Amino acid sequence: MSQKQEIILSGIRPTGRLHYGNYFGAVKAFLELQEKGHRCYYFIADYHALTTITERVDFYRQTIDMLRTYVACGLDPVKSVIYRQSDLPCTAELNLLLGMITNIGFLERGTTYKDKMTKLAANENMEGNPLSFGLLGYPVLMASDILIVRANTVPVGDDQRQHVEMAMDIAQKFNSRFGETLTIPKAVSRNALRLPGLDGAAKMGKSDNNTLDLLDDPATVLKKIKGVQTTTDPGPLGTDSDEPEDVIPLLPHSLGALYRLLHLLAPKDVYLDFVGKYRRGEKFYGTLKTTLAEHVSKFNAPIIERFNAAGNDEESVKEFLRENAKKVTPVALETVEAVRQAMGIGHSLYRA
Ligand code: TRP
Repeated sequence: MSQKQEIILSGIRPTGRLHYGNYFGAVKAFLELQEKGHRCYYFIADYHALTTITERVDFYRQTIDMLRTYVACGLDPVKSVIYRQSDLPCTAELNLLLGMITNIGFLERGTTYKDKMTKLAANENMEGNPLSFGLLGYPVLMASDILIVRANTVPVGDDQRQHVEMAMDIAQKFNSRFGETLTIPKAVSRNALRLPGLDGAAKMGKSDNNTLDLLDDPATVLKKIKGVQTTTDPGPLGTDSDEPEDVIPLLPHSLGALYRLLHLLAPKDVYLDFVGKYRRGEKFYGTLKTTLAEHVSKFNAPIIERFNAAGNDEESVKEFLRENAKKVTPVALETVEAVRQAMGIGHSLYRA
């Protein structure tokens, strides 16, 4: 291989079922990277899911379902290491160690924390202590995920870029204080799409209840798509271009979501035909929706089939997790031991 092998890592929080926003925003890029022969680590960030909880949530189940969907989408456990964050508990030890050199002022500049602060200031709702130590420390834990496997490339969406930059800062600070120990990572843009929600919101997101899911059956798909608001008078398009990047932003919001999906899933001529219908002011909402629903269901069918066929039983899923955790553990232990050594507390005697 002429190209240098990179160590790639990315994580996703266990929000339950994977939706189209996750797929086109992340999973698709993971699939492409795994085919390029890099060493890829993909994990479900179940520790991170805990930063804002106020009561028990069955993250175990959600994690398992997401993993199974990952695999059904084509993430290949032979080519990539696919694991659960909490199956690598030395990440938590690294988090503790790196926390010792991370200033609070630095963490207070983190976007996740700042956004939360702004929201809280707006409605003064401090119930359930949402500003936990863990939430403030979110970037340190994320840095630990990255640094523990010595990742040099972290593909993330724009919203996570700052966190990766913070991981770089933490690693650099560590190395300059304690000697070259950690690999400095870099963020790469996932070159991904941010899909609008079915309600026309800028982003498809589970908490906004506006998602189309990869495991939705045809009836659900049709129901969701039919439910999309299309009552606004479309009005003229204002461009002669047929390029989706020119056309879609000009469409009234939820219609833009439908066209975006149609462009991703249907053959180009089908997409163009509907752009034409829009321009000519034809009545087309009904057929647009049924056509799109067909293409969505066609896309979902093999994923649902693999999801249901692949080792469904609890034991084989656990075995899958165990095998993958085994693959990532050696490098992680090496890192955390090197960090302990560099800081001066020496190796763990129990673990060794
Ligand atoms: N914070 C990321 C998100 O919300 C998930 C995540 C956790 C992550 N650790 C990571 C992503 C390490 C990349 C690398 O999407």
